[in-house]
Amino acid sequence: MNPCCKSAAAILLALVAAGAHAQRAEVIHWWTSGGEAAAIKEFAAAYTKAGGTWVDTPIAGGGGAQARTVMANRTMGGDPPTAAQYNYGRQYEEIIKEGLLIDLNDIATKGNWDKLLPEKIRNAVKVNGKYYAVPINLHNENWVWFNKGLLAKAGAKEPTTLDEMFVAMDKLKGIGVTPLAIGGQGWQEAIAFRGVLLATGGQELYNKTFKDKDTSGPGFRKTLETFRRLKGYVDAGSPGRDWNLATAMVIQGKAGFQMMGDWAKGEFVNANQAAGKDYGCFMAGGPKMPYAIGGDVFVFPKSKKKDAEVAQKKLAELMISAPMQVAFNNRKGSIPIRTDVDTSKMDVCAQAGLQAVKEGRLLASDNELLTPDAKGAFEDAVSKFWNSGQPIDDAIKSMASALKR
Ligand code: BGC
Repeated sequence: MNPCCKSAAAILLALVAAGAHAQRAEVIHWWTSGGEAAAIKEFAAAYTKAGGTWVDTPIAGGGGAQARTVMANRTMGGDPPTAAQYNYGRQYEEIIKEGLLIDLNDIATKGNWDKLLPEKIRNAVKVNGKYYAVPINLHNENWVWFNKGLLAKAGAKEPTTLDEMFVAMDKLKGIGVTPLAIGGQGWQEAIAFRGVLLATGGQELYNKTFKDKDTSGPGFRKTLETFRRLKGYVDAGSPGRDWNLATAMVIQGKAGFQMMGDWAKGEFVNANQAAGKDYGCFMAGGPKMPYAIGGDVFVFPKSKKKDAEVAQKKLAELMISAPMQVAFNNRKGSIPIRTDVDTSKMDVCAQAGLQAVKEGRLLASDNELLTPDAKGAFEDAVSKFWNSGQPIDDAIKSMASALKR
């Protein structure tokens, strides 16, 4: 049977046959919002249905820094979970170097992952030519979400670019509504920053910044100016706010816009709102912008427990199976990682993402281009600039030195 079409039932049977019924799978992840929890429940329910025992270990903290710390400490300390979530890119490079992860090459070959995954995504997942992680979705962090009803009320045109968004935000101000819901946490501020960067100079400026680590030049300066301009549209309650609470403001009509990855769409879905009807979306860099490769993988630490690896591999196969890809991603707000599943019924925002993948408009993200250390330092510098009156020249200098770490 073609691996694409292997049914959920077949995968589940294989799990049972492999002895997964005896297997307890402890899974560390950072999916604690309503939409995220609903998404991971799809995996948990399927694993449980196969007779396995799913032990959920959610670690709160959007963007996952806290979860990754717990995972690193536990794995290095000899008490690894069965599986743990990471983003694509370099976050799990260190634990591979330490020899702490099982490689998934045999199931990847069996499941034809090299064929299923678009080339650039394959490159983002593989390390030294090997699969140490199962990819489960494609997220793009550079989305903008808006409340359609509020925009209509303010007489604002629905934007497709950041320039048009500023026009609409002025109208929202005019009717006394918070134009932009931002969660004032470093990683969220940095997402807004990278959205502005793409809107300002597209792929070229993005690569100049994160690949060449070059922040000289008018494009980067312009990005800082525009980013600072956004501050004038944010409410006083922003500092410290979780991302999903910012999304809730848009859902409930308390704010017009949010710049956030499409995991925010999982919140709209969870609130029974429909894309194109209740809320709208556009990509921060405009309709033809490259889709920065983001999203999630699971890794599987080596374990001394008997049969652990069998269950780990079956869990990986379940996660990437066609039926799970549809069920999970519809809830998560992301798009399936494999190109052979039926996506025709997905919403209009997902269709824009799928089109980008089809056209190969994919961009290696900062997670792939920077070490976690350099990325963290850069985000700290962005946050300092956002939260203070730091002069632009000083900010450019500190961002440049962060990138070169
Ligand atoms: C992950 C998403 C998650 C988001 C918010 C991102 O890094 O890729 O799956 O929903 O963080 O926590």
